[in-house]
Amino acid sequence: MAQPHLTPEVLVPRLGEYLVQRGRVRAEDLKKALAHQHKKQDKTQSGLLGETLLELGLIDRPTLDQAITEQIIQLRNALEDANRYLERRVQERTAELQLALRKLSELNQMKNNFVANISHELRTPLTHVKGYVEILVTDSLGALNEEQKNALQVSQRAITQLEGLIDNLILFSQAARGEMTLHMAPVNLHNVAANIINYSNPKALDRKITLHVEIKPNLPAVKADEEKITWVILQLMDNAIKFTPAGGRVSLTILREADSLVSVSVTDTGIGIPKDRLHELFEPFHQLDGSSTRRYGGTGLGLALVRQILDAHGSVIDVRSEEGKGSTFKFTLLAARRAS
Ligand SMILES: Nc1ncnc2c1ncn2[C@@H]1O[C@H](COP(=O)(O)OP(=O)(O)OP(=O)(O)O)[C@@H](O)[C@H]1O
Ligand SMILES: [Mg+2]
Repeated sequence: MAQPHLTPEVLVPRLGEYLVQRGRVRAEDLKKALAHQHKKQDKTQSGLLGETLLELGLIDRPTLDQAITEQIIQLRNALEDANRYLERRVQERTAELQLALRKLSELNQMKNNFVANISHELRTPLTHVKGYVEILVTDSLGALNEEQKNALQVSQRAITQLEGLIDNLILFSQAARGEMTLHMAPVNLHNVAANIINYSNPKALDRKITLHVEIKPNLPAVKADEEKITWVILQLMDNAIKFTPAGGRVSLTILREADSLVSVSVTDTGIGIPKDRLHELFEPFHQLDGSSTRRYGGTGLGLALVRQILDAHGSVIDVRSEEGKGSTFKFTLLAARRAS
């Protein structure tokens, strides 16, 4: 569709030319009036062409008014045309965008279904592998030598890692399909912290990182899904340990913020995150070190899920970080009931 040429000349045609075109003024008379107008302008007097033509008796008032009215009508018509044209374009573009959006959400749905199906399909064979390795490692199918046992123990660790990855994928696809269910109940964060320390201690030790825990006594229970909140803190601890060089320190701090709020923060003295990349952290499957030779393992799902789980709890995660110095990830939870 051709766009009307909305040049200023079209919108506001010059009065003199218009009068000549319409035969209301002769071309020579226009020239005369323009010359006169020019002279008047030199003397810094008002130099409107219409007034000059009237002054020189080259046009009468009704004809001039008629010409100006015609020009105003033309201008209004041109504006109405332009408006109609713009409305049509907006409608066309909206329809195109709606179609693209529909296609995109269909594709997204397909991806979510694929992730859900494939992760369930991966789980079944893995359960068999895990079961048989367990039978073997306990000498149930015959005695094994040390070397064979070591090899099976390495396999067991890899199986645990794979299980974790599959669980994350299942959780992610549930969240993406809006199927994440929370089992909310009063949660004792002292118990949660004890579980986390048990789990994170060997990892920290392995990587020569000092683990520090500060949890205030007599914290009120919080309203949360215990399993999912434990998982969230574990992910934050996991990242803190993973992105901190040997000799560094990782702290888990659980404090009462206000009467009805408890904050959980994980601080490390690790590599930190550049300011302009903080917003990328929570994108699913996104890692800041995207190179093929990346040093740190993982799939980039951890923080995306952390955010979804906290969002379902009505909480948000706050990140403070300084490149080369370390990072703090913090969120708050509501106390189960108000403290007395
Ligand atoms: N404590 C941290 N210090 C520095 N960078 C971090 C920290 N936590 C997360 N990041 C950056 O954010 C990215 C995304 O973190 P996320 O936990 O989502 O994924 P991951 O740890 O790489 O993989 P996964 O959690 O799936 O094993 C990380 O790859 C890393 O680049
Ligand atoms: Mg992670």
